[in-house]
Amino acid sequence: MTTPNMIHLKDYRPPAFLVDFVDLVFELKETDTRVKSTLTLRRNPAAAPGDAATRPPLVLDGRDMALVSVLMDGRPLATEDFQVDERSLTLPDPPDALTLEITTRIQPQENRSLEGLYRSDGMFCTQCEAEGFRKITYFPDRPDVMAAYTVTLIADRSKYPVLLSNGNRVDAGELSDGRHWVKWEDPFKKPCYLFALVAGDLFCLKDTFRTKSGRDVRLRIYVEHENRDKCDYAMQALKKAMAWDEKTFGLEYDLDDYMIVAVNDFNMGAMENKGLNIFNSKFVLARQDTATDTDFWNIDRVIAHEYFHNWTGNRVTLRNWFQLSLKEGLTVFRDQEFTADITSRPVKRISDVRTLRSFQFPEDAGPMAHPVRPSAYIKMDNFYTVTVYEKGAEVIRMIHRILGPEDFRKGMDLYFERHDGQAVTIEDFVGAMADASGRDLGQFMLWYAQAGTPVVTAARAYDPVRKTYTLTFSQFCPPTPDAAEKAPMHIPVAVGLIAPDGGDFPLQLSGEKTPGPTTRVLELRKADESFTFVNVPAPPVPSILRGFSAPVKLRAGCSDAEVRFRFAHDSDPFNRWDAGQTLFAKVILERAAEIRAGRPPVMDDALVAAFRQTLLDETEDRAFIAHAVTLPGEPELATLMSESDLIDPDAVHQARRFVIQTLAQTLRDDFETVFERNRDTGPYRVDPVSVGRRSLKNAALAYLGGLETPEAIQRLFSEFEAADNMTDTMAALTILSHIPCDERIQAIDRFYERWRHDVLVLDKWFSIQAAAQLSDTPATVRKLLDHPAFSIRNPNKVRALVGVFCSLNPWCFHSPTGEGYALLADQVAALDGFNPMIAARMAGMFNHWKKYEPVRRNLMKAQLERIKALPNLSGNVYEIVSKALA
Ligand code: ARG
Ligand code: ZN
Repeated sequence: MTTPNMIHLKDYRPPAFLVDFVDLVFELKETDTRVKSTLTLRRNPAAAPGDAATRPPLVLDGRDMALVSVLMDGRPLATEDFQVDERSLTLPDPPDALTLEITTRIQPQENRSLEGLYRSDGMFCTQCEAEGFRKITYFPDRPDVMAAYTVTLIADRSKYPVLLSNGNRVDAGELSDGRHWVKWEDPFKKPCYLFALVAGDLFCLKDTFRTKSGRDVRLRIYVEHENRDKCDYAMQALKKAMAWDEKTFGLEYDLDDYMIVAVNDFNMGAMENKGLNIFNSKFVLARQDTATDTDFWNIDRVIAHEYFHNWTGNRVTLRNWFQLSLKEGLTVFRDQEFTADITSRPVKRISDVRTLRSFQFPEDAGPMAHPVRPSAYIKMDNFYTVTVYEKGAEVIRMIHRILGPEDFRKGMDLYFERHDGQAVTIEDFVGAMADASGRDLGQFMLWYAQAGTPVVTAARAYDPVRKTYTLTFSQFCPPTPDAAEKAPMHIPVAVGLIAPDGGDFPLQLSGEKTPGPTTRVLELRKADESFTFVNVPAPPVPSILRGFSAPVKLRAGCSDAEVRFRFAHDSDPFNRWDAGQTLFAKVILERAAEIRAGRPPVMDDALVAAFRQTLLDETEDRAFIAHAVTLPGEPELATLMSESDLIDPDAVHQARRFVIQTLAQTLRDDFETVFERNRDTGPYRVDPVSVGRRSLKNAALAYLGGLETPEAIQRLFSEFEAADNMTDTMAALTILSHIPCDERIQAIDRFYERWRHDVLVLDKWFSIQAAAQLSDTPATVRKLLDHPAFSIRNPNKVRALVGVFCSLNPWCFHSPTGEGYALLADQVAALDGFNPMIAARMAGMFNHWKKYEPVRRNLMKAQLERIKALPNLSGNVYEIVSKALA
C-alpha cells in the first residue's frame, strides 16, 4: 500500500468557500438511495483571496458514491468545468457566488462501515462525525463550514412511517405510489458532522419539558417496537439533564423538539446531532431485569453528555478536528459533574480516576501518546481517545479548580457570549476563562500541547523548633513519541496536613496572617518549588493531590504506616481510597515478585487489619466502602509493574488471586456480616443508597465466592437463581464464571435460554465468558465467534466478546501460547475490510507489546507485522500498527 497522508494542525487554512444554505432531498429505497443537494455557496472573505491565476478552486469532499448530475445556477455544468475523482468534486474556476445542484446515488444497504447513511435492522440512520457526511453527498466536509439546512425525506409509508431529521418538522405529504414525505428545517447553522436522518418503523415515547423561560419542549424517544417498555429511564435521564444544565450553567434548550433514536449497530456510544441524537441502543434501553446499576448510570451519563453537547459542541463548534477536546473534554467534565450531583461525588471521582489510570495513563506512555490537542493525524477517528475525552476533562477540571466555581461559571458565560454560532479553538475557550477571572493561563496551555503523564515528587521537612512544615515538589514529564523535551507545567495540587489524632490541621502558608481552610490548592509552575506552612504544632502526615486535583503520578515517599494512617483517617475520600489502593498494589506486586522468584507468597497482617477496619466502617457511604475494598484490577497492576519491570501477566494474576483468597479466608465472617447487612429489603431501586448497598453486598459476595468451596458455589448458584434484577444476576454469574464447575455451565446455559431473544442482554452473556479467568477461555472465545448470536458486523458484539477478552482479561489474552494474539489479529483482519474504525480500535490492543516479557512481546510483534502486511490495509489500522511498530 502507499503510505496514507498525515494531516497537520499547522497546515490549517480557512475554507475557500462558505455554504449558506443546504437543501437535501433523499429518496430512500432498499436498492439504492438518491440524494439531491442544493448548495448556496460564496467565496470566503476571510480566506486568502489570490489573484485571477491563484484563486483557490472549489473542492467538495465525496467518496463511495455515483455522481448523477451537477447543475450550476440551474444549468448543467460542461464536462471541462469540473473534475471528479475518488475523493472529491472540483470546480477549478467557479464564480464568487453560485448555487450547485448535485445529484448522487448511494448504497446504504451495502454500507457496513456504519459511517455515512446506513441500515441498522430495518431502519435507515446516519453517523457523520467526524467525516461521514462525504459518503452521503459532495460537500466541504469540515466543521468550520456552517450552514442552515432543509431536508426532505421520501420513503415507503408502510415500511418507514417515521421520517426524522434535524430541527423542526415543517411540512409533510403523500405520494400516489405508497410513499410519503416529510420536510425538516433546522434554523441553527451547523457543520455537516451534526446532520442526521432516521427512517423506520419505530415506537415513540413522548414527554415534555418546560424550560426555565417557560417554553414547552416536546421530548421523543424512538425505539424498535419490541423495546417499548425499556425507555422510561432514558426519558427521566433526559429531563434530569435538561434541568441540571439550566440550574448549573443557565443553559436552556433552543428548539421545540428533542429526539433520541436507539439503534443496535453503532460504532461509538452516541451522537449529538442537532435536535436528533442517535444512540447506541445500550445507552437507552433498560429495565430492572435487563440492565445493571452500572448500565442505568451509564444511560444517565451518556444521555446527559449528548444533551450537553447542544451548547458545548453544537451552538459553539470546532474550527477543525484538532480542537476535538474543546467539545469532548468540556462535555465529559459537564457530564461528570452531573453524575456527581445526582449520585455520589466521591464515588464518581474514584471511578473516573480508575478509568484514567487503567486506560489513559497507559495510552500516554505508549506509541499512541498524543497531546489533548493532537498536532497530526492520518484518520481523525483514531483520535476519539481517552486522552482527548478523559484527560481533556481533567484539564477542564484543573481550570475549574484554579479559578473556583464562580469564576469558572463567569468564564463559561463569556465563552458563550463571545462565540455562540462560531467554530472556534481551544485558545478561545481558555481565553474566555482567563479574561473572566483575570488569571494568567498562558503556561496552563501546555496541558493541551504536551503528551505524557507528568510525575510529581514531593519531599517534606518538619522543623520542630519553628513549627514549620515544608513541602518541596519537583515535576518531570517523560518523553513521548512526539517530543523528547517537556517544559514545566502549571499544576494545581490540593494539599491537606493530617494531625496525629486523624483530624486536619488548619493551613497557614508562610507570609499569611491567619490560617485558611484545611485543604489548599498549591499551584506548581516550576521544575522545583517549595511551600512552607507555619504554626504546625506537630509533625503531620501529608495528604497530597486531594480529589486527584491533577492527572499526574504522585511520588510522595510515604511509609507504609503513613499510608495506612491515611487509609483510616484521610478526610478527603478520594485520598482515603487512594491510600488503600496504594497499599493493595504494593502488596500484590510484592507477592508477584515472590511468585516469580519461586518463593511462596506471604500475606501482610497490617494490611489485613486495615482492610478489615474499612470493610466494617459503618459511618461511610456503602458505595465508597465497596470501592475501598476492591483491589486494583489486573490491567492497572500491569501498568504499575511496567514502571519498574517488564509485565508478567501470570505473576500479576496469581498474586492478585492469592491476596483475594487470603483476605477471604481470614475475614470470612466479616464478609458474611457485610453481605447479610446489605441485602435489599424493599423493591429494586436505582437510587444512590440502594446502588451503594448492592455494590458492597456484591463485593463481599465476590470475596466469599473466591473461596471456591462447594458451599460457596452453591450459594452463588442460588443467588443467581433468586435475583430479581440484572445487577445481582450479573454479580453472581460473574463470580461463578471464574470457577470451573457444573453450576457455572448450568448458569451460563440458563442465562442464554432466558435471554436469547434480547441482543443487548446477550452482549453480557458473551462478555461474561470472555472475561472468565479460566485457562480454556481463549478457546471458548474462538468458539463463540461462530455462535449464531454473534455477528462481527455488530460493534457491540465485537466489543463484548473480543474487546472484553483482550482488555479486561489480560491473563487469558496474554496466554503464552499466543492464541489470544492470533485471535485478535484474525478479527482485525476480518473487520478491516468493512469497518476500519472498529478494526483500528481492536488493533490498538497490541499497543503496549513492548512492555511485556520477551516471549509475549515477540508473539505480539509478529501479529502486528502480520497485520501491517495485509493487502488493502485501511489508513485507520495502518496508523495504529505503524506507530506501534515504530
Ligand atoms: N461526538 C460523539 C460523542 O458524543 C462521538 C462521535 C464519535 N465518532 C467517531 N467517528 N469516532 O462523544
Ligand atoms: Zn461527546
